[in-house]
Amino acid sequence: MNTKNNNIGLYIHIPFCKSKCLYCDYPSTTNNRIQDKYFEYLLKEIDLYNLEIKQNYINEKYKNTLKISTVFLGGGTPTYVDVKQIDRVFRKLNNLNIEFDPFEITIESNPETLNKEKLHEYYSLGINRLSLGIQTFDNDILKIMNRLYDNEIIERNYYLARRYFSNINFDFILGLPGDNMKVLENNLKLIEKLKPDHVSYYMFDDDHDTPLKRLLEKGKMKLPEYEYIENGFNLIIEELNKMGYKRYEISNWAKEGYECKHNLIYWNNENYHGFGLSAGGHYNNIRYTKTWDFKEYFEKIDNNQIPYDYYNENILLDELTEELFMGLRLIYGISVEKLKNKYGKLYEEFSKNLFQGASDLIEVDERIRMNEKGLDLSKMVFEKILEARETMKGYEG
Ligand SMILES: C[S@@+](CC[C@H](N)C(=O)[O-])C[C@H]1O[C@@H](n2cnc3c(N)ncnc32)[C@H](O)[C@@H]1O
Ligand code: SF4
Repeated sequence: MNTKNNNIGLYIHIPFCKSKCLYCDYPSTTNNRIQDKYFEYLLKEIDLYNLEIKQNYINEKYKNTLKISTVFLGGGTPTYVDVKQIDRVFRKLNNLNIEFDPFEITIESNPETLNKEKLHEYYSLGINRLSLGIQTFDNDILKIMNRLYDNEIIERNYYLARRYFSNINFDFILGLPGDNMKVLENNLKLIEKLKPDHVSYYMFDDDHDTPLKRLLEKGKMKLPEYEYIENGFNLIIEELNKMGYKRYEISNWAKEGYECKHNLIYWNNENYHGFGLSAGGHYNNIRYTKTWDFKEYFEKIDNNQIPYDYYNENILLDELTEELFMGLRLIYGISVEKLKNKYGKLYEEFSKNLFQGASDLIEVDERIRMNEKGLDLSKMVFEKILEARETMKGYEG
């Protein structure tokens, strides 16, 4: 199954942080001594990919049109590492066997890591989107969560960044310990004042094994009541809408034209590759993630192996399930024509089963999408997709 769209996104994981936040289980280390080694191996990993392109895709009819269209430098904290490391990565990417001409390059950052010199260098490297991990403007919560800045540093460095970036995102988390209506109202007031181009407001995810989870289990910290989360999220929807942001994904809002093009590749189930520790990829019907373990990462690359942790050749049913999982996160959902063209009878059968279980959560016309209730209860929609999939097992299409 080849896709007609020959644009490819690249995700590059930079697993270094100055300190670890209480709520975070993303793969990153504070051990700076392995930075040089990590980047050396990251470059080798990109070399392995380059070789694969040469061997596998060079004769494909799409070869001449394959193109890297977006790059996302994620973390960890990519703005914490020496800029020379980022520069090395770009030099390598510029030598890929396919066209490297991305129109969107994002770098994730923590506010305290930014300064004029770094910002200037990112700009010179062609990085044109800055994602600022703010989480909250409340200084007490920031301190307790082990974040290394306060709201003054956010404002100062945001205005500094504005001199170099015309596309800035703010990341927030709703529902950390200490969060309440007053904190949220102040966060929204500061969004209105600072006017980022894009806002991600994530619900706190307490599923993962983090220091915060253990403190919560021991009763040493407390999460806000569910009632606040529900009312708070509704307030976010209402206020961001008033400020001119359009909600285009469950947790993402953008001013017109500022949707994150890289993340849209994920949500539209298109093609992207991931390099670095824990990075994921999807290319045609292949889905993979790289190992989360530094030692294994280095060892596999030493053996000229791509450091996969998971690698699966999706059958059509896997692809369709994943496409629904991701595409239904988008407010405007997925084109039914696209699904019919790609999956034919399999989609017809699958959607029949899905509607049986989720007719009050999903709506269809020329697109299939969650309705308002579905967006509120999105976890339930995802469960229904899995149930529908179960009933399809063994279906050959
Ligand atoms: C892994 S961080 C990397 C960016 C940067 N280091 C930072 O801390 O802002 C990416 C985003 O994930 C979100 N995040 C991390 N842990 C989370 C959790 N437990 N629940 C919800 N969102 C989380 C935060 O909003 C964060 O900005
Ligand atoms: S700085 Fe970002 S990636 Fe690092 S521990 Fe904190 S939330 Fe996680």
